[in-house]
Amino acid sequence: MEPREFFIEDRLERFRLKAFCNLGESGLSHFLLEEVMDMGQISWKDLAKIPMNDSPNQGSLELRQAIADLYPGVSAEQVLVTTGTGEALYLTFHIAVPQKAKVALIWPAFQALYEIPKMLGAETIKVPHDRAFLASTWKAVDADLYIINHPHNPTGKTFSDSEWNALIAHFKEQKKTVLFDEHYRFLPGVGSLGRTGVDPKHSFYGTGSFTKCFGVTGLRVGWLVAEESFLKRARSFKDYLTHTVSPISERIALSLLQSKESFLPKIQARVRKNIQSFDSHWKDLPHTKSFTAPQGGLVGWLELESGISSEVYADRLFEKTGVFVLPGINFEEEGYLRIGFGEREDRMIEGLSRWRECTDLI
Ligand SMILES: Cc1ncc(COP(=O)(O)O)c(C=O)c1O
Repeated sequence: MEPREFFIEDRLERFRLKAFCNLGESGLSHFLLEEVMDMGQISWKDLAKIPMNDSPNQGSLELRQAIADLYPGVSAEQVLVTTGTGEALYLTFHIAVPQKAKVALIWPAFQALYEIPKMLGAETIKVPHDRAFLASTWKAVDADLYIINHPHNPTGKTFSDSEWNALIAHFKEQKKTVLFDEHYRFLPGVGSLGRTGVDPKHSFYGTGSFTKCFGVTGLRVGWLVAEESFLKRARSFKDYLTHTVSPISERIALSLLQSKESFLPKIQARVRKNIQSFDSHWKDLPHTKSFTAPQGGLVGWLELESGISSEVYADRLFEKTGVFVLPGINFEEEGYLRIGFGEREDRMIEGLSRWRECTDLI
């Protein structure tokens, strides 16, 4: 069993560090370790005192408690710390997706959300994003596992309050098993922490992290939230993969979660400003057709005029301007670009200005 190539990764590897203006990434532009320590109020002495043995297999109790505190009614026993959200997804699918299971998800999607279920022999049901944020759409979909990624990568869409309440009520009534991938929960359109659908007592599992939202993807910390028996199996599976997460990463993660109120509002303001500035300028960008400003998260989905290859557009844009975007074809959807809003504001403004002036792109 082997998944197909991870389509976005090759391009990200090639361009992420070379781009003048990186709008290809789905995370906030990274901070340096010294900045991160400042954000988490950690001293070098604190780091020097970290015991370099294995962390507990489930993750340190303090970190699990800090994660549990993000979810109403969730205990530290229901949290597994993982190496990124990617590992949490991998574990969840191996436990929750038997062969021939039907797995429904919003389309287009982050590839791991469907590639791993497919590899395990599942049938995937693609729910198009223009209808996926309506509860009535899901009522007509019969699946063994529903994956709700909100705010959504790559479109930046999420649910209105009324659609959300109706969706949750439906899943509860029908006793459905749901996985909420809430990687972008720390960047809601308004407010400081986005809503969660996670509720272990109803088999509403959760995967998440803060690494993209906080600009610290290199920490490789994520988590799974589930009821204890499910979590125990996931932990045992993890013992064969990464076993434990580095105690350095866990220690920094804990401090960042504890002091997030001191730095997160600034990050949120930056991302919202980038979205606003893109929203007011996208019509001036060559050969673009439509764009809906993200209602949360860090990415959006820009439609191109018909007949244009997203890959050719992205390649030429990078060659001519140093602006890096991801072609929709990497999400198996032609005619779009995925735009990330985590770049520094000055680079975003300069990047948009270069892009706008690039009239000989196609
Ligand atoms: C929706 C979604 N889930 C999970 C992941 C994996 O995240 P991580 O880097 O924490 O493994 C990503 C990464 O882009 C994502 O966009």
